Formats: sequence, C-alpha cells, structure tokens
Amino acid sequence: MLTIVICVGSSCYVRGSDKVAETFERLIKQENMSNQVELTGAFCMDHCSMGVSVRLDDQVYPEVYPDDAESFFYNEVVSRLQRGV
Ligand code: FES
Repeated sequence: MLTIVICVGSSCYVRGSDKVAETFERLIKQENMSNQVELTGAFCMDHCSMGVSVRLDDQVYPEVYPDDAESFFYNEVVSRLQRGV
C-alpha cells in the first residue's frame, strides 16, 4: 500500500491542494487502484514557498500543481507501484 499525503496547510491550500486531491481521487478510481493507494491529508510540510507539497511514503515532492497533478500521478505514483517500491 502506497500512502499519498497531500498538504492541506494554508499555503498549499491557496495553491490548489484541494484540486490536486480531487485529481488523485478521480485517477485512483479510474485506474481501480483503491486497494493499492491510500490518500490522506496532513498539515504543513515546511515547503510553503513552493507548490503544493505531496508526500509519497517518506519522500516529499514540494512542487505539485493542480495542472501537473495528473502527470505526477502517472509518473510518480503509478511508476512507483510498478517498480514495487
Ligand atoms: S502549507 Fe504546505 S508545505 Fe507548508
């Protein structure tokens, strides 16, 4: 199970963390991945001056934007699961 944590702190919220979450939710359903991925939220991850912060297990990606959320999902989340990391 891969855990995706989206920052819902105020800086990330202003940059669209709710849109990023919606995109991930939609793609998890679309790709039938709800048994492989857990989506959750957390407060500030200390990268407030960048984009929306997303953490995959222990790795923080501080520059995810709503428009990039879909490609991030395929490039990072799906490929991570395929690599079995
Ligand atoms: S509010 Fe998201 S990293 Fe600070």
